Amino acid sequence: MKKKEIKKEYDRKIRKLVKFNKFYYEHNDPIVDDAEYDALKKDILKLESEYSELKNKNSPSLVIGFKPSKNFEKVLHRVPMLSLANAFDQDDLNNFEKKITNYLNQKDRSLLEYSAEPKIDGISASLSYKDGVFTTGLSRGDGKEGEDITENLKTVSDIPQRILSKDFPDDIEIRGEIFIQNNDFKKLTGKFANPRNAASGSLRQKNPHETKRIPLKFIAYTFGYQKGLKINKQSEFLKKLKEWGFKTNPLNKTIKGIKNLMKNYHDIENKRGSIDFDIDGIVYKINDFQLQKRLGNVANAPRWAIAHKFSANNGISKIENIEIQVGRTGALTPVAKIKPINIGGVVVSNATLHNEEEIIRKDIRIGDTVLIERAGDVIPHVISVDLKQRNDGSKKFVFPLNCPSCGSKTIKEYNSITKKEDAVRRCTSEGFECEKIAIEKIKHFVSKEAFNIDGFGKKIVENFWKLNLIRLPQDIFKLDYSVIENLDGWGKQSVSNLKYSINIKRTIPFEKFIFALGIRHIGLENAKLISKNLFSIKNFLLLSKTKKFNDLINIDGIGETQINSIKNFFSNNINLKMIQELSELVDVKDAVLAKSNGLLNNKTFMITGKLEGISRAEAKSLIEENSGSIISNVSKKLDYLIIGEKPTKRKIDSAKDLKIKILSQAEWLNMLNKTS
Ligand code: IVH
Repeated sequence: MKKKEIKKEYDRKIRKLVKFNKFYYEHNDPIVDDAEYDALKKDILKLESEYSELKNKNSPSLVIGFKPSKNFEKVLHRVPMLSLANAFDQDDLNNFEKKITNYLNQKDRSLLEYSAEPKIDGISASLSYKDGVFTTGLSRGDGKEGEDITENLKTVSDIPQRILSKDFPDDIEIRGEIFIQNNDFKKLTGKFANPRNAASGSLRQKNPHETKRIPLKFIAYTFGYQKGLKINKQSEFLKKLKEWGFKTNPLNKTIKGIKNLMKNYHDIENKRGSIDFDIDGIVYKINDFQLQKRLGNVANAPRWAIAHKFSANNGISKIENIEIQVGRTGALTPVAKIKPINIGGVVVSNATLHNEEEIIRKDIRIGDTVLIERAGDVIPHVISVDLKQRNDGSKKFVFPLNCPSCGSKTIKEYNSITKKEDAVRRCTSEGFECEKIAIEKIKHFVSKEAFNIDGFGKKIVENFWKLNLIRLPQDIFKLDYSVIENLDGWGKQSVSNLKYSINIKRTIPFEKFIFALGIRHIGLENAKLISKNLFSIKNFLLLSKTKKFNDLINIDGIGETQINSIKNFFSNNINLKMIQELSELVDVKDAVLAKSNGLLNNKTFMITGKLEGISRAEAKSLIEENSGSIISNVSKKLDYLIIGEKPTKRKIDSAKDLKIKILSQAEWLNMLNKTS
């Protein structure tokens, strides 16, 4: 990359970070999870270390948190509130300790003692006490300057208003974490992504009465400015905090040696699910204040402390129940309802168990302690069961043999390609006759790639179903808006918006219409192929009468599985009624036909091997749109054989025998005046 491009990339990443920060700190409503946020921060720091000329006042190397909100008065911290460096594994801890012993020029690592404190994932606050009286409370803000949130902090019952102990310093800032307990968070349904955001949102309410409504807790762990503190060790300070009337973390420990730090880390990680507040790692601090002083700080973090973070993509929890969900195609998917756990900033309470076989293979049972993974956009799933923690009375999970929605028999289909029984168990009812399948089918019908009805989300489908307003997809175009207007949560404006969103989707391309029907094995690509072949909805309706389904086999890409599925679809009266009624309610646009006289006029093509960056179906459409056609055998009728990656040698040999022109992907795209 050129310098200019690197700078552009760097600035783009900084802008992204500023935006993420704004949502996180100002609105208490993160738009990305912790893993994505950390990855972006890491990218920026890496670019800065590679290209020293890159710098920005918003760089994470300079900024802690976010500038205080405008709602509160800003106050300078007498001692800055620092951040902590992160460690993710034992190597990071070894490096941390090595750096310390090198800095102190001390050979013997076994002498180093740490205060190991589970890191509560909340909001830090600094409380000023003058002559034992709580006077001012500040948020961290950007580390240098915080917000004056005294009045809100006064509503927190864990914060002592007055401390009478003789040895309590005359002037001291006590620092710690404000947080909300998981069981209290559960009661605040839906407003915040995780307990941390709830605590932050509550703490920064303009009105202290609002803060009081959300039960906040405070745990103390350090001090900022102080005068007259006569203590030598962090562990002693933690003891004192308790004597003075502050809450401290009951899981704090004093530990020597990395091996023991690791053991404690694993112990606490295992306990995480049963602790009633969120922790996202363990903070290790050199216990001796003298040594802390000698070590000092680097940039915005102390050299004497580190946060050993828990993995941002997995966590340990307990299965409270196993539910069976029924999908659009009748597939029965077992889902573990787990004790909610915060994984990388997202509270996870469901984990997919995939299918019956997965449950048997891993012997997953209700009550089990399990390791859950949540990575990227993948649905959280169970990695493993901790058998040591299983109760004696635990029983194997019995997978239901009947559909939990409609009671129909369930079966595992035989897959003629793999010559094996499918892993997935399915409901055998005819689609719309099973409630759960019907609801899922309607969700599919309105989804983005199908009718794409704006604002008609999954929740509305479920709600309208419950209220008996919809039973079949066509009901969407026959809604009685006067009824909806009187429903809870609906008004004139929202109904008018809904009506508009539905009405503008009364015109739809044929291929999307076919896809929206949700015929099994007919995805978007296959729907396109069928639409090009049948051209119009008229022919589609005709198909249901003539039953000439086998003609569809001539469509390249459509196989026996698809044809059987289409036959099955047309054999159902509810489906027939649906397409008939829909054809009267919506305007289905004919497929776009190939140009005559296009660049590939009357030429025949065949493709062997995998093409780069383009699917078979798309390549075929491209050929046909340019008046060419695809044939499926090498014969004298073939004009060109296009070769992709790993082609079939036999096809190339016979093409050569017949003196058929062989094209690479690039040569073929050249014919279309395109480059790859
Ligand atoms: S000590 C200079 N101790 O972690 C040391 N921090 O990323 C910094 N935190 O802002 C503070 N538990 O919000 C310390 N036992 C603990 C902590 C803790 C949680 C948070 C705190 C801080 C952040 C640092």
